[in-house]
Amino acid sequence: RIVVLDFGSQYAQLIARRVREQNVYCQILRHDLSAARIAELAPKGIILSGGPSSVYQDGAPQCDPELFKLGIPVLGICYGMQLACKALGGQVDSTTTREYGHAKCEIVSGEGLFEDLPGEIDVWMSHGDQVSSITESFSALAKTSTCPYAAIVHNDLPVYGMQFHPEVTHTPLGGKVLANFVRGICKCEPNWHLSDFAELTIEQIRKQVGDRRVICGLSGGVDSSVVAALLYKAIGSQLTCILIDNGLLRKNEQSLVIDEFSNHFKTDLHVVNAEDRFLASLAGITEPQEKRRRIGHDFIECFKAEAEQIENAHFLAQGTLYPDVIESGADPDGPAATIKLHHNVGGLPEELGFELIEPLRDLFKDEVRRLGLELGLPEKLVWRHPFPGPGLAVRCLGEVTRDKLVVLRAADAIVIEEIEAAGLYRDTSQTFAVLLPVQSVGVMGDARTYDNAIAIRSVNTDDFMTADWSRLPYDLLARMSTRIINEVQGVNRVCYDISSKPPATIEWE
Ligand code: XMP
Repeated sequence: RIVVLDFGSQYAQLIARRVREQNVYCQILRHDLSAARIAELAPKGIILSGGPSSVYQDGAPQCDPELFKLGIPVLGICYGMQLACKALGGQVDSTTTREYGHAKCEIVSGEGLFEDLPGEIDVWMSHGDQVSSITESFSALAKTSTCPYAAIVHNDLPVYGMQFHPEVTHTPLGGKVLANFVRGICKCEPNWHLSDFAELTIEQIRKQVGDRRVICGLSGGVDSSVVAALLYKAIGSQLTCILIDNGLLRKNEQSLVIDEFSNHFKTDLHVVNAEDRFLASLAGITEPQEKRRRIGHDFIECFKAEAEQIENAHFLAQGTLYPDVIESGADPDGPAATIKLHHNVGGLPEELGFELIEPLRDLFKDEVRRLGLELGLPEKLVWRHPFPGPGLAVRCLGEVTRDKLVVLRAADAIVIEEIEAAGLYRDTSQTFAVLLPVQSVGVMGDARTYDNAIAIRSVNTDDFMTADWSRLPYDLLARMSTRIINEVQGVNRVCYDISSKPPATIEWE
């Protein structure tokens, strides 16, 4: 495997995914992991990510300099390269302007990292500092007109650095550069395949579970469906699924999940209708984190009550993904950052006294989708946009009420119908409606109205950590708007959200 040490880069997960595209397993770890621990993990290569800091800044994240001496190949990207230079001989300076965007990069040495690449490649730069001089321990491998050391190699150690970002799509041949590092320099075999993963996981689940029972929360989303499919393959009728309808689901969602379920699994399904309970505990609450907290709490209580009825239930299966594991700080070796409370990590199993099964905790979303297809789930389900645990509550801004949910659900259904009809559903990563806590004046027929506003949100993203708003065609937006205003009572205005993440988030709350 390859490990990525994360120095706070937006791109650390992207680097890991690019490595996995080479069919090589890749894991993201905290930047300050000791060289001794890294040696224990025995990766075939180490990648130091970029990061927002300056290497000489007080408190700037550092790595253990001993890791350069482990004999394991190291590739420093951007900040990672600057750290390598600081540790092994080189000068890092602030450039007067932040360099951000495309650059032409001239390859000085077409071996190793740049094997089989043209003499000049397009690269993507995003940095404030850069390496301004190197000692004779290093040699330059590539340069641009403003950056004399766009890529370097240490003369005695297997340590490489590059100032540009090979992991982003704006560096078109970046995948090849990373492949040269992973396959050529680190000598990793391409043996990480999802079909093997499925087989191994099914085998592991069988062993772990024995003749006991597993319960699995089903939400209608990709992750929980893939978990259920894996479990069903592994243990068949020892699986009980629970669907909690918290009243915050999308239009027809409960029946969709039940249909989907009966088409693919012939095992026990419990549906809990808990709308009243959730809406009662959300009454009067407007603060987003408090809304999330209450939903999480109610979810646990409902689940617990249902689970207690299930005999011999010993395990709880969850669709936790690798990004959740990284962000929640659940991995002691992993980097931790909690921006929003994601209620599907932690909490539940401890309270319930279940043993946890998380068969997807090593996978990224796109890998889960591919796995879903391998397991025979239908494309429509596998490509469904993600839907947050707290459901429509975080899209119904301010207080959540039954009436508001009716409006939001109807508007959301139109947005989805129209984007599907335009054939653009799969071209966006997440598309939905938000009900704003705003009334505005309108005129319908001859009458003045004072009604709600709906915002349409549609984003494109690789990893949901950063996202850009989708450039939906005006005609499509017009159809959505006309239909929402005509068909959804209580709405007289539709807006389109044109903010990217960061600084906005994908959800509004
Ligand atoms: P944000 O809004 O943080 O969302 O940009 C990133 C992705 O995470 C989803 N999301 C959640 N998923 N529980 C979940 O399971 C949550 O509490 C939650 N909050 C946000 C969001 O829909 C987007 O895909």
